[in-house]
Amino acid sequence: MYITKINLNNFRNYLKQELNIDKNINILIGDNAQGKTNIIESIYLASIGKSFRTNYEEEMINMSNENATVSIEYVKNDKENELKIFMEKGQHKLVKINGIKLDKLSQVVGNIQIVIFSPDELQILKQSPSVRRKFFDISITQIKPVYIYDILQYNKVLKQRNTLLKQIRYNNSLIETIDVWNEKLISSGMKLIETRKAFIEKITNKVAEKHQYISDSKEKLRLEYNPNCTTKEEFIDKLQKSLDLDIQRGYTSVGPHKDDYIFYINDKDLSKYGSQGQQRSGILSYKLAEIDNLKEEYNENPILLLDDVTSELDSSRVEKLFSHINEYQTIITCTDIIGFNLNFKYNLFKVSNGIIEEVKD
Ligand SMILES: Nc1ncnc2c1ncn2[C@@H]1O[C@H](COP(=O)(O)OP(=O)(O)OP(=O)(O)O)[C@@H](O)[C@H]1O
Ligand SMILES: [Mg+2]
Repeated sequence: MYITKINLNNFRNYLKQELNIDKNINILIGDNAQGKTNIIESIYLASIGKSFRTNYEEEMINMSNENATVSIEYVKNDKENELKIFMEKGQHKLVKINGIKLDKLSQVVGNIQIVIFSPDELQILKQSPSVRRKFFDISITQIKPVYIYDILQYNKVLKQRNTLLKQIRYNNSLIETIDVWNEKLISSGMKLIETRKAFIEKITNKVAEKHQYISDSKEKLRLEYNPNCTTKEEFIDKLQKSLDLDIQRGYTSVGPHKDDYIFYINDKDLSKYGSQGQQRSGILSYKLAEIDNLKEEYNENPILLLDDVTSELDSSRVEKLFSHINEYQTIITCTDIIGFNLNFKYNLFKVSNGIIEEVKD
């Protein structure tokens, strides 16, 4: 699949921008703070339904305006489509696909498939497990959009159980109702655990294979899902054992909201023993595997978004990444193209203070 046109109104520093992009490789070049990542963000928003930079959607609306629109025209299965997002300060955003309003915002995911390479994500092995859970949750959502509902449901039950735990501290008789909430937590939690497990099982060989290539066969990479509870029985048992402490804390300490994912390089935990470069390469290998995974699932090529990767990866990694992009629509942002071996055809755009112009040679 590929995008043909991006239309922005009052989005970040773009007041009115129409951008026709090529179905192959597009490079957006510009100094810092000109609006390159804002373009990547607008495509991400149309694909995933939210920003990768902020949880506050109002930040995406131009500071001097009250509302914004992002429209992405794309071709999928040889059919032309338009996904349009309307944002207004103080309101929930509204999304239309081919003019028809979506009932639920979660229906955005599953329409435009992307794989993003961003400086932030290259660092996730240094971050907390919650950052990694979010990273993989988004990845899974693209393959299985209904997974969003499972997450929302689990979080709702978790919140209610936590409220109950706090109430039990003051009113011990309420403890009788905990079993009901345990059952709900376990049934919604097991859905997450099973989906995560199946996803990692499916992608792990692909990740290993990509890393062989990235590391010139010098390193062996393995990705593992590290669930807090593996089975229903373990979940029940752990909830039971932690009940007293959970009541004291007013917080559920057991369940998939405590899961993590571990990358092993040559059988050692990459987050603990890997160098910064090795950690970035691990994520890069994962991302390359994600491309294949999406392609397999949808029978369509995903769109690749490469935000500022040339500043985060060394030239050999960049070249290995670039050698993969030829068959995909790719949008690359960078401050400079000098120093890279760009042995492919590309369209060049200059980004300057919220205005984009194509550079013709
Ligand atoms: N809501 C907004 N309204 C107006 N301008 C905004 C808004 N949000 C961000 N900006 C502006 O957008 C610019 C940053 O854009 P962006 O992050 O895309 O830069 P960039 O070109 O990717 O830079 P870098 O090379 O540093 O990554 C800044 O000038 C910032 O002030
Ligand atoms: Mg940027």
